[in-house]
Amino acid sequence: MTNNELKSFIAGMPKAELHLHFDGTLEPERMLQLAEKNKVKISYDSIEEIEKAYQFTDLQSFLDLLYEGAAVINTAEDFYTVTMDYLKHCRAENVVHTEISFDPQTHTERGLAFGIMIEGITGAMEDAKRDWGQSSLLIMSFLRHLSEESAEITLEASLPFRDKIVAVGLDSSEFGHPPSKFKRVFARARAQGLLGIAHAGEEGPPAYIHEALDLLKVQRIDHGVRAIEDPELMTTLAAKQIPLTVCPLSNVRLCVFDTMADHNILTLLDAGLNVSVNSDDPTYFGGYVNANFDALVTDLQLTQDQAVRLARNSFSGSFLPEGDKSKMLDRLSEYATG
Ligand code: HPA
Ligand code: ZN
Repeated sequence: MTNNELKSFIAGMPKAELHLHFDGTLEPERMLQLAEKNKVKISYDSIEEIEKAYQFTDLQSFLDLLYEGAAVINTAEDFYTVTMDYLKHCRAENVVHTEISFDPQTHTERGLAFGIMIEGITGAMEDAKRDWGQSSLLIMSFLRHLSEESAEITLEASLPFRDKIVAVGLDSSEFGHPPSKFKRVFARARAQGLLGIAHAGEEGPPAYIHEALDLLKVQRIDHGVRAIEDPELMTTLAAKQIPLTVCPLSNVRLCVFDTMADHNILTLLDAGLNVSVNSDDPTYFGGYVNANFDALVTDLQLTQDQAVRLARNSFSGSFLPEGDKSKMLDRLSEYATG
């Protein structure tokens, strides 16, 4: 199979996305349109200028731009539009299931009501389900550079919408904000029946992955690529099949790896870990899920067997009910065996 044939196979392959930030799906064109509509001042006048700003040196340099862009999203209709833009990409790429993380604090900090976000995002999720059977779930993430008290207020504000949210997560600046800082709020979320995930081992050390598992009791780790530095942790992650939602283009853009050829995703996969391919913040990092797979084909000589295993992990690592999970896994097997 040539690289192009493998890329076509991957494009048509049913798959899930498990690591995706709502704010990171804002297309430059949409950013300009919403800024004008809502009369929000941004530092950019054109798509070219926005794209030029996508040169990051580390996680923080990206987060600064991400949070500035998010300020153009103001009404329930805006949240709907941005979510629908993304879900249409899912349809086009055969991402048949997606788990969308959103950061309420990015928006409530500037005065928006919780219900506005939920109404817009879940409205689009429901319409996509009705119109083309798109499967999706919603995850609420806490910004770790803010206090645990702020996360607790956010959890409280989300309770009227408890049935719309499947899990809580932890994102934003990793250094200096270990998972242990959020132990109590994750326990409170667990008491509400919410599942848990956390970004860990992206820029931060493997110790943060240990903390996320042991103290926050999460089911899944976002990124987790620095697990490779801790052989015992590697053994645990493989034995327990803890999913790591890996984001190749993100990691290269944020200088976690110098080049795609240096990325360790296939080493993790071949060590038996449950790793999947995700886009993280697709408009900021140069591509959606299929572009991430394509980069692995081009730079890491991804094989067809590895591609199918990565897609299988995307379903098995999802928060879908078991019945839906097996249906999607069957659909993938059918596709893979032709
Ligand atoms: N890491 C931490 N916070 C984030 C990310 C990420 O990759 N994307 C959006 N918020
Ligand atoms: Zn992320």
